[in-house]
Amino acid sequence: MANHRKSCLSGKGVTKVFGLGLKKTVAVNHVDFDFLEGDFVSIVGESGSGKTTLAKMLLGLLPETEGEIFFQGSLRNIRGRENKKKYWKEIQAIFQDPFSSYNLFQKIDSVLLDCIRMRGGARLPYTNKIEMITEACSFVNLKFEELTNKYPFELSGGQMQRLMIARIFLLKPKILLADEPTSMIDACSRATILDMLMNLRNENGMTIIFITHDIGLAYYISDDVYIMEHGNIVEHGKAEDVILNPKDEYTKRLISDVPKIHEVWDLSTVG
Ligand SMILES: Nc1ncnc2c1ncn2[C@@H]1O[C@H](COP(=O)(O)OP(=O)(O)O)[C@@H](O)[C@H]1O
Ligand SMILES: [Mg+2]
Repeated sequence: MANHRKSCLSGKGVTKVFGLGLKKTVAVNHVDFDFLEGDFVSIVGESGSGKTTLAKMLLGLLPETEGEIFFQGSLRNIRGRENKKKYWKEIQAIFQDPFSSYNLFQKIDSVLLDCIRMRGGARLPYTNKIEMITEACSFVNLKFEELTNKYPFELSGGQMQRLMIARIFLLKPKILLADEPTSMIDACSRATILDMLMNLRNENGMTIIFITHDIGLAYYISDDVYIMEHGNIVEHGKAEDVILNPKDEYTKRLISDVPKIHEVWDLSTVG
């Protein structure tokens, strides 16, 4: 978006090495990036290219081996519990498997009430809380009345992923990191989820970092794209520039695997 040009999250030389000696894997290799406020950014690469490892470092769930990460232009400090808690108010994530990051014995009402508490709304009157939850549910096309007293395993994958987005709607972080959030759900729900991510960006100005192996999808939804191969960022830029005029051989190969990239998308089939 043209009127948001401030850096939201950036990195210099960010590196992650797993293991030692012969067992050493350089999962992320000295990558530089700059994600701007309010942008929809995709990180694209095949399986094993280091996307999730980079995501975990961005989220502060995994320490970087080398390099620096900057939040809103300042070196990020997530040392200690308090700093981490503060950082996690600003960045939240949804994952491939919406059930994986979730306490399966917590009822849905209580999950959403927790979000309001985390945003400092613990003392609000109950009716206000229910209003906020109802609004969040309607943002993701869920009916709160149908969710009360339910457990997550009573929902479908698509409904569960929508619930995860309702959490984000209530938590209102600056950044949402979505790691292949549509790859485990049915095609019909996929388009809906993508629409909701775009709405979070358009209506709340959230920066979306979207991780995918699908370059066609990235073209369709993103402002900027970063292409990852074997832990390296091999190319980045505006989605149109990178995808319609790729410079790197790897990017060209990813594109050649996608039929009809220039044609209008049938949203019910995008992956
Ligand atoms: N905890 C770990 N220990 C050792 N190697 C890992 C670990 N996590 C990821 N890797 C390796 O790092 C590389 C990148 O993995 P990953 O970040 O999951 O890629 P992607 O998300 O793009 O599929 C792979 O070679 C993977 O095997
Ligand atoms: Mg991954």
